[in-house]
Amino acid sequence: MKIPPIHVDCARLSAELEELARFSDAEPPAVTRVLFTESDLKARAFLKGLFREAGLIVREDAAGNLFARWPGARPDEPAVATGSHVDAIPFSGRYDGTVGVLGALEAFRVLKAAGWSPQRSLELIVFTSEEPTRFGIGCLGSRLLSGVLDSAAAAALRDADGCPFEAVRRQAGCTGSLDSVRLPVGHYAAFVELHIEQGPLLEREQVPIGVVTAIAAPAALRVRLQGEGGHAGAVLMPQRKDALCAAAEIILAVEEAARSSGSLDTVATTGVCRVHPGAINGIPSEVMLEIDVRDIDLGTRDRIVERIRQAAEPPASRRGVGLQMELLYADPPARANEAVVMAVTDACSQLGLPCQRMISRAYHDALFMARLYPMGMIFIPCKDGISHRPDEYSSPEAIRRGVEVLALTLARLAESPPA
Ligand code: HGY
Ligand code: MN
Ligand code: MN
Repeated sequence: MKIPPIHVDCARLSAELEELARFSDAEPPAVTRVLFTESDLKARAFLKGLFREAGLIVREDAAGNLFARWPGARPDEPAVATGSHVDAIPFSGRYDGTVGVLGALEAFRVLKAAGWSPQRSLELIVFTSEEPTRFGIGCLGSRLLSGVLDSAAAAALRDADGCPFEAVRRQAGCTGSLDSVRLPVGHYAAFVELHIEQGPLLEREQVPIGVVTAIAAPAALRVRLQGEGGHAGAVLMPQRKDALCAAAEIILAVEEAARSSGSLDTVATTGVCRVHPGAINGIPSEVMLEIDVRDIDLGTRDRIVERIRQAAEPPASRRGVGLQMELLYADPPARANEAVVMAVTDACSQLGLPCQRMISRAYHDALFMARLYPMGMIFIPCKDGISHRPDEYSSPEAIRRGVEVLALTLARLAESPPA
């Protein structure tokens, strides 16, 4: 496939990443950008402006997924899609997701500037709520697109203030029924996501590009504990039913379950712990925990979830504390499509870039797009493998290489899509 040399405008791309990072509810360098907050809405408006400036056709679906299409000469054929997310967990970084959105826009622009034009269309997707921050479930937009989550269940999801997704999305200007979000099989010929690795491997091995072969299987539990509140000075220890002490034993049991799983690929994290009433001199009466469990092997992941469920019972009953556990989600891992993996690999060799196959321990919207379409992911190194932290960093050079590989991969797939 002949494509004239492409030239990534690194200064423009860095400036756009910088500008996007400003739409945040945290002091720089941290970024907080939660679904449908003011900052998220401003970020979305900024992106729509850039997409229109680039001559793309922009639409937004009922869940707030954004689509920016570069129509091809044969517009009725299934498009090749790319994209990622721009929401960011509290006090995190500016490259997680955003590189796959602004990098994809830059890939479109460099292909156009090189005089290439697509036979089948290219489409950039900005997925709604890849992070679980607001509604407790990750990849909300891609779950709806792929049909993994039904629209009624999505509409009923509530945030920490008890606001249902249905109301929140409408307030954000998303109209239409959530039933209209789901995409049919065959709608896209392939889906490729550019993303920072969010791990140390590429930097450690000095390899500029990771070719993802599989995405680990994420699961999440929500645990609610009801003890007995009371005065921290007046209630003697033997009389206590302290919900936070029960939670503390459970949090350590979560860590122990992952450490003793027998596989280094098992990870478990209690990332949310909300305490009521949250006063130094009030015995905790209620605690809510959210627990994230992953492994690249589905059987191991499910075994550890079960072990955590069992480990939670004894501390609660011994302390006379009520316990409810809810499985928020338990998704299978996804495998990349070999033809897409080869398209990425061929793009790397065309650019003279070493690459290596690897798994993704983080989940991505690609995990759900893989349910319907041939999927692939392109990883670039991030400093010390750090992510979900304000000091998350990927160099303009690393991003440039990722964009070049993405551009050539999209062009290859648009001309000869996976069978
Ligand atoms: O948690 C994840 O793996 C992703 O960054 N949301
Ligand atoms: Mn993330
Ligand atoms: Mn991400």
